[in-house]
Amino acid sequence: MRRIALLGSTGSIGTSTLNVLRRHPDRFRPVALVAGRNAALLADQVRDWQPAFAGLVHGDGSAGFPAGPEALIAAATRDDVDVVVNAVVGAAGLEATLTALRAGKRVALANKETLVTAGALVAEAARLGGGSLVPIDSEHSAVLQCLAGPAAKGTAPTRLILTASGGPFRTWSDRAIAEATVDQALNHPTWSMGAKITVDSATLANKALEVIEAHFLFDLGYDAIEVVVHPQSIVHAFVEFADGSVLAQAGFPTMEIPILYALTHPDRVPDAGATRFDPVAAGALTFEAVRHEAFPAFGLGVAAGRAGGTAPAVFNGANEVAVAAFLARRIPFGRIPVLIETALAAHSVVAADSLDVVRAADAEARRTAEEAI
Ligand SMILES: NC(=O)c1ccc[n+]([C@@H]2O[C@H](COP(=O)([O-])OP(=O)(O)OC[C@H]3O[C@@H](n4cnc5c(N)ncnc54)[C@H](OP(=O)(O)O)[C@@H]3O)[C@@H](O)[C@H]2O)c1
Repeated sequence: MRRIALLGSTGSIGTSTLNVLRRHPDRFRPVALVAGRNAALLADQVRDWQPAFAGLVHGDGSAGFPAGPEALIAAATRDDVDVVVNAVVGAAGLEATLTALRAGKRVALANKETLVTAGALVAEAARLGGGSLVPIDSEHSAVLQCLAGPAAKGTAPTRLILTASGGPFRTWSDRAIAEATVDQALNHPTWSMGAKITVDSATLANKALEVIEAHFLFDLGYDAIEVVVHPQSIVHAFVEFADGSVLAQAGFPTMEIPILYALTHPDRVPDAGATRFDPVAAGALTFEAVRHEAFPAFGLGVAAGRAGGTAPAVFNGANEVAVAAFLARRIPFGRIPVLIETALAAHSVVAADSLDVVRAADAEARRTAEEAI
């Protein structure tokens, strides 16, 4: 029986995780649930699952749940927790990841912003505390699955190719993209996800976050991590080895398979409720290059990853502010990459060697982007 702390239980990944747990009551039990603002859904989840602990970060205590970011830390470090599923959105999830790893927990990580803002600190926390990190992101789960099997024979990969759906604006003109509405940006062609990552998928900032995430997870240089647009979202990643062989992992787009794998890695467990793959129904699979001029956020993010130090935290912080402003209809879609570029240009990169440095870079990026808005 693995005991789970689920951070971000009310979101898209959070509710998908509970769907997975519901099918495996003999293997997993959620002992802590933490949400952001959605007190009503959290109360329903508490009624259904009877966890030992429940917190509401942005609550005021009136709903009876402990409030504040400490609720995330309290859940992530409980003695009765084996696995922390971090499904919080944004850099708000960082400290929970760090403290869980320092406490020796397995962290099943959906919260990619954690690795992007502070990849080196996350690795250090795992080393010091004995915790381990397993990705939930489907592309990174795909890479991990290709590397975990006997086919990889413990050899390091020479190249990763992450796939991107291309988002709703894959074939749009640059001009139409710049003027895209919130409803159009939220209309993702293949994945159903929370609003922030859906907008990130439309700008392709999400794929830059994933390249940085892959760099830290698999300890590979940026020259060895490529991205290809694959509109059907069936192949989640390719892994190339030194002899030229390439492995790929495939399946219909559902997060429940990578979530279960993150809980059981390196083992697999049967799941009668899993979405079964049908290659005939999947139809033709196509691949195309990223249109860099149409999606400048992607190149900005990869360049920030290559610059290293505090640059990825600045990319992430500015992007979070820009996406929130777009969703609030304060800026047009086309301004998202402009705000990211402004924040990166204003920042002097330093080594991201402490949480204080990372927090300062994140705060500066948010301030610069907000002032520009
Ligand atoms: N959705 C996907 O398919 C998918 C795939 C791969 C990776 N991811 C990554 O997984 C993470 C979650 O994505 P999502 O799509 O599930 O997002 P989401 O649907 O927006 O859910 C976010 C969750 O985080 C909670 N939350 C928000 N701000 C918080 C804060 N300051 N402190 C604590 N909790 C907070 C929300 O609570 P309330 O709703 O109660 O406010 C909600 O439970 C993101 O990092 C995303 O990039 C998602």
